[in-house]
This record gives sequence, C-alpha cells and structure tokens, in this order.
Amino acid sequence: MNNNQANWIVASLIFSVISMISAVSANDVDLSKLDVKSLVTKMTPLKGTTPAQWRVVWTDDASREATISWTTAEPGEKHVVYYRTESGGRKGKPALSQECQSNGLYTITQPKPPKPKEGETPEQAKKRNPPKKIAPAYYHHARIKELKPNTRYNFVLESDGERSREFYFRTAPAGGTEFTLIHGGDSRSGHANRCRMNLRIAEQAKADSKVLAFTHGGDYIATGARWDQWRLWLSQHELTTLEDGRVLPIIPTKGNHDGGKIYFEVFGLEEKTKRWHTTMLGKDVALVTLDTNSPGGGPQAEWLEAELKRLRPAVRWLIVQYHRPMYPAVKGPATHAPIFCPLFDKYNVDIALEADGHCMKRTVPIRDGKKDSTGIVYVGEGGLGVGQRETNPDRWYLKDGGKAGSAHHVMQIDFSADNLRVRFILMDGSAWDDHTINARNL
Ligand SMILES: [Fe+2]
Repeated sequence: MNNNQANWIVASLIFSVISMISAVSANDVDLSKLDVKSLVTKMTPLKGTTPAQWRVVWTDDASREATISWTTAEPGEKHVVYYRTESGGRKGKPALSQECQSNGLYTITQPKPPKPKEGETPEQAKKRNPPKKIAPAYYHHARIKELKPNTRYNFVLESDGERSREFYFRTAPAGGTEFTLIHGGDSRSGHANRCRMNLRIAEQAKADSKVLAFTHGGDYIATGARWDQWRLWLSQHELTTLEDGRVLPIIPTKGNHDGGKIYFEVFGLEEKTKRWHTTMLGKDVALVTLDTNSPGGGPQAEWLEAELKRLRPAVRWLIVQYHRPMYPAVKGPATHAPIFCPLFDKYNVDIALEADGHCMKRTVPIRDGKKDSTGIVYVGEGGLGVGQRETNPDRWYLKDGGKAGSAHHVMQIDFSADNLRVRFILMDGSAWDDHTINARNL
C-alpha cells in the first residue's frame, strides 16, 4: 500500500466517523431503530484526567447558582471550571474561574469472588472465573455563585491541564414564567432506549429554546451501589448535550433504586441535608423535590409544610416532584400519600410530577381524595428507558378525564402567566397527551 492509498483510507475512516456522529440527531433518524452502538463515538472515554460525564446541577437558586460537575479516570490535582458570559472558545480567556470545592473517589464496591464449586478451593474458583476489577473514577464539583439571571454561561472544564470543549447553559430568569422544563424518570434499565430518550431530550431542547432544564424523577440505574451502572448512565447522559454545546441543568430526585452513596457523589449533594429541597426557577416558579425513600412524616413533613406555607403566596407556580406516586396507575400508592396529599391540597400545589410506575398517566384533578375541579393533577410515571408496564384502567382517577398508557416518554411543561401546558412526548417526538392547567385564582 502506498502513502496515497493509506491517506485515503484514513480520510475515509474519519469521514465515516463524522457521518455517524452527525447522523444521531433525532430529526434525521427513527430513534426506535437507531443502532445505539454508533453513539459510543459520541461519549467521552474515561481516560487519564480528560474531563468526561459533565453535568450542571441545580438544587437551590437556579437564577444565580449552579454546580458544574464531571468525572476523570485518574484523581488529578487541580480541577477548575472556567466560565464567562460570552463565547471565548477553547483558547479564549475566560473571565471567571472556580476551582472544584469537592473532589473524590466514587464509592466503588468490587465484585465478590466466585463461589467455589464442590471440591474446588477459593483460589481455584478465582482462577476459573476471575472477578472483573472495576476501575476507579473521580468526581469533581465546582459550585459557582453570584451568576446573572437569564444569562448564557459558557464554560470549559479543566483537570490538570486537560480541557473539555466549550459548553454552555442558561440561568433561570429572575422572575416571570416564560420557560419550559422537561421531566422524566426511570432511566434505570433498557440502555438502548435510555440513549434514545436522551437524544429525544436534546431534540426537544433544540426545537424549543425556551427549554431551560431537565428534572429527573429518580431511578437512574437499577442498583444504586454499583458504580459500573452509574458510569454508564453518566456517559450516556452526555447525549442530552446539544450539538452546539448546550447543557440542560439537571434537577435530581432520588428513586428507590438509587440507594447508597453514589447518588450524592454524582450530583454533589449533602446526604444529610439534600434529600429534599426547593429549586427556585426565578421568583415566580418553585419546584419542591421530596424523597419517597425517607419517611413522609417527621422532619420531611415538617419541612414540607413550612416550605409550602412560605412559598404559596409568593409564587405563581408551585410544583412538587418525587419518585413514588401518590395516585399510581400500576402499583399501590406510596405510604407518603396520607401525609403529603393533604399538604398539597392545603397549599394548592399546581401539579405533582411522579415516576416509578413505568407507564404514562394523567389523573383527573384531585382534592381530598376525590375528583374536584380545584384539585391537583398528578402526572408521570417514568419512561426514560425502563421497560413499560400495563396500567390499571379501573382506577377512578384515570377515568372520566384521566388517562393512562405505556410508552417511553418525557413530559414537557411550558410555563406561562396564565396556564401550564403539559405534554407527554414520545420517542418519535409525537405527543401522547397535551393538557392545559389554568392558573389558580389565589
Ligand atoms: Fe422506582
């Protein structure tokens, strides 16, 4: 083979990789038929101190604060995020920088050695079926504050001199309601469909610049203590990044499969204080995140009542999200329902976002356990990748105006001053349900 032939082969290979990368836009392909193996080329390999698995996390004041997080394969020594309000490019001089305040090794439990067969020693069993050692990985969290509301922030991640490409996100407005959230839960298994739904999320944001953030209703992975599963989830989460570098901040909720320490390490949360929290999306929209893994009564109920009381007269839209449904379409209700629902009623929550059931449902408006036009609509129940279940059509709150079904989906919630538009968007981009909730007269 001469040099020209070799160059041509290399050029062809590069061209085919570029073609593969550009062929994964949800607009161009039928996502249900997409060969997800081609997506691996889009994910950043965990190698050395290359910044990978980036995410922006919101928990408190989404107008002025964010946590920017990433993963490296080696611990490194210096981890910095550079950020600015104008594009500076990879080599540009960023105006601001923040060294990560929190770095550490993800909690990794190595697989147990195989059980010896009869007559076999433990050493022989290990030799026959050597357990695969899970490579270490390190989290980095940079908490940035004093941001300007409703502003595009470009950012670049750097670990020991290794830089990422430039990304950006938008902060929430200081006030007003003109934005959209995407909500989804249960990405925990069905990896191919999880990748496809991640592309769907990116596509929804690409089609509508009002999409501000992504709220996850919990159950990211099947076994919360397994780093190998989180590692996959985090790499696949890169697919929610838009081609132009836009990252949708994630507002996390904890599911029943997300046990162990890694959930807190992934999102940079304090285990003791961040199981429930309120994210302010400006002064007019509050998203209260609850934890259905912790008891509903006691400290959580006390916090919830005080929080709803504080927020209700102040905000236009008061939203709650949590993992296990109060009005489920498949399973029985969460044990939290007798505690949470009366508080939701008392403080006139506008909508409740649920997950866990692996289906789609929109209830009739419910107050005091009955259909009531002044009540709360409960929507969800998780379709970010997990296999879907059949719903129980006999439940009263799913009939006569309620609705249930089974398909992979996200919910797209458009806020405005007068109403909330809630759409269930399927993998192919079509809407299974398109429902409007009018603002309360408070
Ligand atoms: Fe669940």
